[in-house]
Amino acid sequence: MNTWVYSTAEVLAGETAKRLAEYVQANPGKLLCLAAGDTPLQAYGHLADFHRDGRIDLNAMWFVGLDEWVGIGYETPGSCRQVMFDGFYDRAGIDHSRILAFDGRNPDIDGQCMAVSRWIAEKGVIGLTVLGIGMNGHVGFNEPGSLADDTVRIVPLDATTTSVGQKYFPGGVVPTRGITVGMRELLAANQILMMASGNRKAPIVQRALSAEVTPEIPASLLRANGTLTVLLDEAAAGNTLF
Ligand code: GLP
Repeated sequence: MNTWVYSTAEVLAGETAKRLAEYVQANPGKLLCLAAGDTPLQAYGHLADFHRDGRIDLNAMWFVGLDEWVGIGYETPGSCRQVMFDGFYDRAGIDHSRILAFDGRNPDIDGQCMAVSRWIAEKGVIGLTVLGIGMNGHVGFNEPGSLADDTVRIVPLDATTTSVGQKYFPGGVVPTRGITVGMRELLAANQILMMASGNRKAPIVQRALSAEVTPEIPASLLRANGTLTVLLDEAAAGNTLF
């Protein structure tokens, strides 16, 4: 595991974007599995700008969405779909045929899980995934209790997730189920980047990276992937010495 700590969230975003751009240049045709959430958005914005400037070609890549809130579609601000299409895919102008993302409004959950599994299998493996970390240690919607072998699936959401989820849906009802790429597909990725920023994340980052590896903190399971790179700002690194 490599851990990098940057002074601010802005520097973290810039450095993450540079790493992603290098990966895209060196690995055309690979599959990127990208988290939504607040943490990586600024980095994705830079990456979209690199593409628009002609410095990298994102249309040479494939994309799969990491997760989605069940029942919530593109039309709802805060949906992973709207965050990712408005904040990244369409901002960059990526051809939609390169992207498969869960649609929370599509009631055929099993069909979507099968389609995402098939999409990943067709591309061989996830080349690189960008993950955030939930306040309870979740990655995607792999909630506490998730196992390393769990695959693409629907998951009942933990009370912490629904409570924290209110930040995405101010005044709205927070869904109680999520759909997610599983730990199995994430752990098999060629490279994992996990990002965290802000002092609210410091305690869970510390537990995920320094305490025991346990399904109760799904992010800790990522330590089994030898290429795990953790990208933090100083606030999220807290007092932990990396
Ligand atoms: C959300 C999502 C994750 C995300 C994580 C952290 O609920 N399910 O994919 O990475 O929690 O989100 P944020 O970056 O907004 O803190």
